[in-house]
Amino acid sequence: MPIRARESLGSLEGKRVIVRCDLNVPLVDNVITDDGRIRASLPTIQSLVSEGARVIVISHLGRPGGKPNSEFSLAPVAERLGELLGNAVTFAGDTVGPSAHAVVNSLTNGSVAVLENLRFNAAETSQEQPVRAAFAAELAQLGDAFISDGFGVVHRKQASVYELAQALPSAAGDLIVNELAVLERLTEAPQRPYTVVLGGSKVSDKLGVIGHLLPRVDTLLIGGGMLFTFLAAQGHDVAASLLEKDQYDTVRGYLEQAKRLGVTILLPTDVVVADGFAADARHVVAAADSIAQTEFGSAGIGLDIGPETSETYASAIRASDTVFWNGPMGVFEFEAFAEGTRAVAEALTEVRGLGVVGGGDSAAAVRQLGYRDDQFGHISTGGGASLEFLEGKELPGLEVLGW
Ligand code: 3PG
Repeated sequence: MPIRARESLGSLEGKRVIVRCDLNVPLVDNVITDDGRIRASLPTIQSLVSEGARVIVISHLGRPGGKPNSEFSLAPVAERLGELLGNAVTFAGDTVGPSAHAVVNSLTNGSVAVLENLRFNAAETSQEQPVRAAFAAELAQLGDAFISDGFGVVHRKQASVYELAQALPSAAGDLIVNELAVLERLTEAPQRPYTVVLGGSKVSDKLGVIGHLLPRVDTLLIGGGMLFTFLAAQGHDVAASLLEKDQYDTVRGYLEQAKRLGVTILLPTDVVVADGFAADARHVVAAADSIAQTEFGSAGIGLDIGPETSETYASAIRASDTVFWNGPMGVFEFEAFAEGTRAVAEALTEVRGLGVVGGGDSAAAVRQLGYRDDQFGHISTGGGASLEFLEGKELPGLEVLGW
């Protein structure tokens, strides 16, 4: 079923419209280090402003555990949103309390307010449906209509994502509609060759997606911390590199399944091995089967894919018509170990068909490495959400909008 679109709500002029965004941006000392999710939320907010709606933006930030914590305040986000909109945004210091009501009551047509972090209320993420529904009912009092636009959170059955959509006339915003349009191209008859690049630290986080994707892709490239579990499962000594020993059998199962299906799984042939986990750690390049034989011996720790692997992966990406990438290839936050991630990002900008960066760390990585969003086919705002989408899982936040 197609998702319920904005038009189904009719004219929103003068109406109080609650927009659920995912403004969960990385912050260091209350300073935003990547405003990608705020920028991605602008089209829906701007179009509501032009229509003369009274816009009430709600979001979570981090995992404050159900109580107020200034470290997770949305205040800096509201300020940045105002800068990007070119108009002041009013900020309410609570979510359903007196401040929220006062701020909403003072909204005029075409103005925007941001309410404080939804997750300062334990009911937002409660496991108990009636508790969530009661909180959603309180939120619903603040609005006449609801637009769900936080794609990054549609995999969560939480009050502002699920129950609120049932409590008010609701529809999907532009961000969600656009994410679906792109991600459906990956799941419904993708142009081939189709390559998926997976990185990140843990195999266990990617089990569902690897299992689901294997029968659907032509090539799977493995990088990031989880590559060492793949190498170790094949009998290589990976010294002190990150390992999930309980995943060896699963990983071997994937390698066998890939062989049966005729899918190519590429593993690194070389890696960058360091003498510790630090930006200035000493490091050398080692063959993937000789990680323990460097000068660092059993203390060596793999922190990036090596140059030969980068070249192989980049060629495989460039030769593909569809590419989805989730998870950095190495510890890109340290310049000395960012080369593998950079090589993948660079190749992705050159894909002739559709190249998708799947949210979270990979989106942060490409921006930190200096790439512009428009150099890629699409940068998803959903980390976990885009992976669960590709896994074919039910996504409550979409399902409640008729999808
Ligand atoms: C994300 O960053 O993936 C989303 O904002 C969801 O956050 P969560 O994993 O804390 O629910």
